[in-house]
Amino acid sequence: MRVLFAASECVPFVKTGGLADVVGALPAALAAEGVEVRVLLPGYGPVMAALEGAATLGPIETPGGPARLVVGRAAGLDVVALDAPALFDRPGGPYSDTAGRDWPDNHLRFAALSHAAAALAQGADRDWRPDVLHLHDWQTGLAPVYLHQRTGPRPATVLTIHNVAFQGLFPASVIGPLGLDRSGFAQDGYEFWGKVGFLKGALVHADRITTVSPTYARELMTPEFGMGLDGLLRHRRTVVSGILNGIDTRAWDPETDPALPRPYSARAMAGKAAARRALERRLGLAAGMPGPLLAVVSRLTEQKGLDLLAEVLPRFLARGGRLALLGTGATGLEAAFRAQAEADPDRVAVVIGFDEALAHLIFGGADAICIPSRFEPCGLTQLYGLRYGCLPVVARTGGLADTVIDANPAALATGVATGIQFAPVTAAALGDALDRLCDLWADRPAWRRTMRRAMGQPVGWEVSAAAYRALYDGLAG
Ligand code: ADP
Ligand code: GLC
Repeated sequence: MRVLFAASECVPFVKTGGLADVVGALPAALAAEGVEVRVLLPGYGPVMAALEGAATLGPIETPGGPARLVVGRAAGLDVVALDAPALFDRPGGPYSDTAGRDWPDNHLRFAALSHAAAALAQGADRDWRPDVLHLHDWQTGLAPVYLHQRTGPRPATVLTIHNVAFQGLFPASVIGPLGLDRSGFAQDGYEFWGKVGFLKGALVHADRITTVSPTYARELMTPEFGMGLDGLLRHRRTVVSGILNGIDTRAWDPETDPALPRPYSARAMAGKAAARRALERRLGLAAGMPGPLLAVVSRLTEQKGLDLLAEVLPRFLARGGRLALLGTGATGLEAAFRAQAEADPDRVAVVIGFDEALAHLIFGGADAICIPSRFEPCGLTQLYGLRYGCLPVVARTGGLADTVIDANPAALATGVATGIQFAPVTAAALGDALDRLCDLWADRPAWRRTMRRAMGQPVGWEVSAAAYRALYDGLAG
């Protein structure tokens, strides 16, 4: 079974969020299931630099201009890079410049990526033809549209929605430059409310649609969560399913994590206290406080609901809690948390930026991780939290609802609780959830049992890789 992934992010080369973790880790888990995965990526500088034993497949003409397809190994993955320096070799992020403005030619850049995916699906590499083309998010959404426009055999296509909030919408004037058939600019094609919709086109033409948790798959079909695509998803419901994300349990392992001062495990927890001291020193937090050390590692956006945390933080601090926040995003939220850190530096530490190593130390050193998302397709940080004994406090939505078992009295008595869930997603409910966290913290034996149980939860890719394998088998057979 050969599967070609196409995506715009992949660890360790380029990452703005969980998509990169998934694309970087799932191929190895699929290999264990007997699936041969290649990953098509834009030829960003770090991708081209990492390629070993690279061979050029040849030139291809894309909507973004001439490019080359280069195949090689990079960071343990089989990578196909779309080498087009004019499109991808620039400073800044994968979607925006250093000032955070979207690149003005994003439609061309990701149409080129989609075009390359379609070309590979139809045999651009004569020695490696995929049985399934597996696309991730809007950046690769035009691939099924291009395949629909073409004649000749093609493999089955799967589109995974990692976040329906990002749809790749562009004005109708891009139709010509992107080489799209005008007839497809219709409700049953790639048109979305008068615009060209990359994700919309994929949802119409992909053979199967998956998303990253069962609960989000159901939520997506409702107006509240579907962001205008719920009707189409209801229409296609027989091909829609939710497969939960896992995490790379080798990269995220408190027994071997180089970012921690001492290894620890559910059986030998002394290293966790050492990690907490290291974190306190690193962030200048006062030691010996009576309550739990709560953490946030997140993009600071509307989705993540952290405005609610800013609101209830004083109440949590009054109960003896502390906060360590690592994040970047909305300037208003950055300023709000910075102000709280300045007002109470002993108990609130705020680091604005993206720092992978610090993220690891935070999961190791903190007692709980706060994820009050308004919606969350899957979420990975609650899984890191479980693995590191850093109890998740989560909104009951999407993948958060599917991965954390609330420490209500019944679950505590039965011995199955792994964290705290709250609903609705309001400041009042989050405040109550943090009160419950402090109560659990005060009951030391119950806290320790919950922490050990959290660390024992299976959070790897094994189960979900088998589910993807079954999906591919059904399509390719
Ligand atoms: P999303 O993809 O919506 O941002 P996820 O929870 O799926 O949410 O994935 C977020 C990923 O990005 C996690 O690996 C998390 O550790 C990481 N991350 C988010 N913000 C930061 C940051 N400021 N520094 C380091 N890692 C971060
Ligand atoms: C998106 C979602 C997040 C998910 C990630 C990986 O960024 O916001 O919930 O975990 O994709 O699938």
